[in-house]
Amino acid sequence: MKKSREKLRIGVLVSGGGSNLGAIIEACNTGEIEGEVCVVLSDNKDAYGLERAKNHKIENYFVDKKEFSDREIFDGELVRILKNHHVELVCLAGYMRIISASFVKAFPNRIMNIHPALLPSFPGLHVQKKAVDYGVKVSGCTVHFVDEEVDHGPIIIQKAVPVLDDDDGDSLAARILKHEHRIYPEAIRLFAEDRLKVEGRRVIVSG
Ligand code: GRF
Repeated sequence: MKKSREKLRIGVLVSGGGSNLGAIIEACNTGEIEGEVCVVLSDNKDAYGLERAKNHKIENYFVDKKEFSDREIFDGELVRILKNHHVELVCLAGYMRIISASFVKAFPNRIMNIHPALLPSFPGLHVQKKAVDYGVKVSGCTVHFVDEEVDHGPIIIQKAVPVLDDDDGDSLAARILKHEHRIYPEAIRLFAEDRLKVEGRRVIVSG
């Protein structure tokens, strides 16, 4: 049962093109998600995701890791900005840094990530090429809650995507990306409707 509520306040972290950010913004604008992206953060000043935020008049910040002595202190600045914007859900969207335990603790089961493979298969980076090179026939994408291990938290939604004989890493990545843009907004929508219940490693979707 969809519960009426104030719009979910979403903070998004990007490092690159931000196509998943674009899909999330679009889903908020169409009303698919009862939410709004209220702040975008990046560790990369040239991230096009920051441009996307600007184009949608969303507050956005480049946080320069060189100005912070270590990851914990850098992450502390990210958490400070997110809390100042009263963010209720943090979405990592092509964000390339590993977040610290203190960051995770600041938003327990309130940080999501999109990974372009079917976890627990192919964690880490360049996973589309790894899937092609391994010879799998099916790969896909995963939205999961972020815990203190990399690519490990409870899985919310997955989508299987076929690997074709003539695929390379780039062609598979492009096919998977289209599905990322569907399942990430869907996972956020379910969260906004308070329909996700984490039970140990499992995420139960209600209603
Ligand atoms: C996507 O494949 C995403 O799964 C991975 O980074 C890629 C680019 O994402 N984490 P985006 O276009 O920056 O959202």
